[in-house]
Order: sequence, then structure tokens, then C-alpha cells
Amino acid sequence: MSLELTKRIANSVPWVDDVAKRAQPPVQRFLRSRPGLHNLLDGKWLGVPLHPALTDVPVGAWTSAVTLDLVGVLTGSETADKAADGALAVGIAGALPAAVTGTADWRDLIGEERRIASVHALLNVAGLALNVTSLAQRSRGNRGAGRALSAAAFAISGTAAHLGGELSFGLGVRVNHTFADARPSEFVAVADEADLDGLDFKTVTVEGTSVLLTRSQSGELCAIANTCSHLGGPLGDGARDGDTVACPWHGSRFDVCSGAVIEGPAVFAQPRYEVRANAGKIELRAATAE
Ligand code: FES
Repeated sequence: MSLELTKRIANSVPWVDDVAKRAQPPVQRFLRSRPGLHNLLDGKWLGVPLHPALTDVPVGAWTSAVTLDLVGVLTGSETADKAADGALAVGIAGALPAAVTGTADWRDLIGEERRIASVHALLNVAGLALNVTSLAQRSRGNRGAGRALSAAAFAISGTAAHLGGELSFGLGVRVNHTFADARPSEFVAVADEADLDGLDFKTVTVEGTSVLLTRSQSGELCAIANTCSHLGGPLGDGARDGDTVACPWHGSRFDVCSGAVIEGPAVFAQPRYEVRANAGKIELRAATAE
């Protein structure tokens, strides 16, 4: 399925966007007022987004269930049937944390990314509902109906998973937006020392990459990538709090000297640069040790 087809599917249900626009603000308010919770769900503690890792549980378990169902049909094996039921239950249990972390990822999306993510979520809900019904049918002894429902759920959940992949690989959602930043190995002059006033932020460009230049409260020259690793916001337009900067788009906070993530939704640290003053100029190069 191409990215264009994915967009056509999402655009065929425009009402999803209207629902999402109304649903996002309360989710944003709820999570922004609970930094510990959203840092957990975003994956800040893991250093990578948590949602993609958790989706492996239902995707893998439901793939196993369908495979074992097929083995059961072909061999009549009761062991395979029981294993299929178990895999189905594991997938259902794993779908809940995947859905919660997915909702956290969805909260800051706009435009077609939000539309595709919303359709992705709706398809996952439909797949989950069919799998729950399948498990209920199996528990009542209706194995044929249970298998058919699981197969239908697998097709729907597989389509949803594909949309999730397109969001990341095609549209860069939850991809580190600083991975292509310039990393000069030699010092490059970027500004006059006199241009950096107190604790102000100054944005400079190095080999096409925007870099945020400032001083720490102790007077150390500091520089980190200016493009937010979350979704590309301009950190130089953000607010300073101590030695941290808050992204103006979704509030991720970074240490202005180390680039470390202090608060999500970002999970990837900002690349940092070594900075020195030399003959009235400020020079920087990529930091050798991260
Ligand atoms: S772009 Fe989302 S927090 Fe910076």
C-alpha cells in the first residue's frame, strides 16, 4: 500500500478529523498536567518512543493465533487450538497498553498525520472488538466462528499496523527530527561574541542546520540543535526556564547545554555542539562525546 493510498483511505473519512479535533484538547490537558505519566507513556525513560515497541505484543500474538488456527484446521490438533486461544488472549491483553501509548503519541498530531493516526486507531479498535468476540465464541465452543472472527480481525489490524508504519516511515511521526543535522568536525565561526547577550537565545546556521546558541546560568557557552527532535519545532522561539528551553510547539523541555530531554513528548536528546570563544568570534563543532 503506497503512502498516497494511505492518505486516500484517511481522507475518505473526513469526519474522523472533526472528532479528533474535539477529542485532542482534553487529552492534551490531562497529559500535560501529569508530566510523570506522559513521560512514562511517551518513552522518555526508554530513550525511544514506547508505542511502537508495545504494538509488537498484539501484532505478534495475533499473528501467532491465526497461524495456530490454521495448524488446528489442517491437523485437528487440540494443542494448537488451545495455543491459538492463549495467543489471542495475550494479544488482547497487550492491546490496552499499546492503545494508551498510541493515544499519547496522537495527542499532538495535526493535519493529515492526525487523520491517518485516527483511522489507524479506529481500525485497531475494530480489530480488538472482533478478537474479543472471537475469544468469547471460542469459550462457548464455537471454534469455527472464533477462527473466522480472528481472521477478519487480523486483516483489519494488519491494515491499521500498516497505517502506523506509514505515519513513521512516510511522514516522520515519532522519528528523531535531528538525525540529519550537520555535525562539523572542525570549529566553525557562527557569530560575534558580542552578539550573544546575557542568557538570550541566538539561532545560527551551520552547514544548513539551525543551532541554538546561549549561555548557561554559570556563563558557559552552550549550543544544541534548534530543531526539536519531537516534531521539528523551533526551540529558539521557546521559553527559557533555568538552563532548560521549552519547545513552543508541544512543550518538550531540553537542557540547553547537554541537549538532554527533561520532559517529553520528545524522547530523543538534542544533538549538542562544543562551543568556544576565539578572537571575538563564537565557534562551534559537533560534540565528540554525547
Ligand atoms: S515539536 Fe513537539 S515538543 Fe517540540
